[in-house]
Amino acid sequence: MQSIISKLPNVQTSIFTVMSRLARKHEAINLSQGFPNFDCDERLKSLVFDYMKKGYNQYAPMAGIFELRNQLAMINESLYGRSFDPEEEITITAGATQAIYTAISAFVQAGDEVILIEPAYDSYKPSIEVNGGIVIPYGLTLPSFKVDWDAFAQLITDKTRMIVINTPHNPTASVFDEEDMKALERITKGTNIVVLCDEVYAFLVYDGQKHQSVLNFPDLYARSLATYSFGKTFHNTGWKMGYCMGPAHLMREFRKVHEFNVFSVNTPVQYAISDYIKDRETLFGLSAFFQQKRDLFGQLMEGSKFRLLPAHGTYFQLADYSAISEENDVDFAKRMTKEFGVAAIPISVFYSNLKDEKLLRFCFAKTDELLQQAAAKLIQI
Ligand SMILES: Cc1ncc(COP(=O)(O)O)c(C=O)c1O
Repeated sequence: MQSIISKLPNVQTSIFTVMSRLARKHEAINLSQGFPNFDCDERLKSLVFDYMKKGYNQYAPMAGIFELRNQLAMINESLYGRSFDPEEEITITAGATQAIYTAISAFVQAGDEVILIEPAYDSYKPSIEVNGGIVIPYGLTLPSFKVDWDAFAQLITDKTRMIVINTPHNPTASVFDEEDMKALERITKGTNIVVLCDEVYAFLVYDGQKHQSVLNFPDLYARSLATYSFGKTFHNTGWKMGYCMGPAHLMREFRKVHEFNVFSVNTPVQYAISDYIKDRETLFGLSAFFQQKRDLFGQLMEGSKFRLLPAHGTYFQLADYSAISEENDVDFAKRMTKEFGVAAIPISVFYSNLKDEKLLRFCFAKTDELLQQAAAKLIQI
């Protein structure tokens, strides 16, 4: 038997795979995984096909095609009133996952500490550990999931290489406000810490609130990389397209890893997206579209024994089931799938210490019909 020393001995089958498998087995409605059950725009698909037919089928430049980077620079300039250099500050990636991995790999060395806000999206921790980094978790607490920045600052040591934040936040659906960003700017000032800000749900912020991006805070941006996902934005998570933004001195290091980890990403899709986003409504119309779904799900769940928590951003809705059961969240999520026919994600899996707060995460990026069918089952519980 070949002897292998695993670099990630603690990584097991993810809860997303487990719940989706269980949903298929029991023919349950799957509100667990974070992707839409509806298709992306026909116009975008046609654009990709047109570029394929026109012969745009070979390697793109390493950093991405200039046209797309330039569109992104213009969009962010209009949002934040500052210019971003498409040549130096933007790289097109194979989804946010690759951007996150590449950013961590470019800066985290063996023994470096990385502070993670938990509950945390599942790709951060293994990406840190495979690079020899040490995860220092900071736990958000109910009911607001706000960061206490003084307590957070206590976690910073001379070994802290990176802080990973995610706003709008998966899975809590909370968002950072201006004060949060200023506090982060303040506590990292004068350090060598790189901030990785995962902003994949940047265009999914509700109730008239403004997304607070690191791009909007010049001193913070000077030490940050921000990651984005076209898959989340354009309902095509299977295309695995995204991008990373950051100041030139960080982007140079990012690209050294990017070049050898993927080199470049899908050429016809880059051309298609660069045309598609010339209509800015494709981006700015998203909040209204998903807010309607959040509100519909909320209305449909009225009268159920689940207590829905505020959802300020992302396409996730947390629900407290403590009025229904005392089971731990993993057991309850599994039983709900088997007996009641709806799959959701238990929140404990997003904590290093598997803290059980009796919360489930439902994804509402689904057709209204599917949300109606799911809610009809959930209110029976
Ligand atoms: C917070 C967060 N970051 C990153 C990703 C991954 O994005 P992508 O599909 O573009 O790799 C996800 C996907 O669920 C996510 O929720």
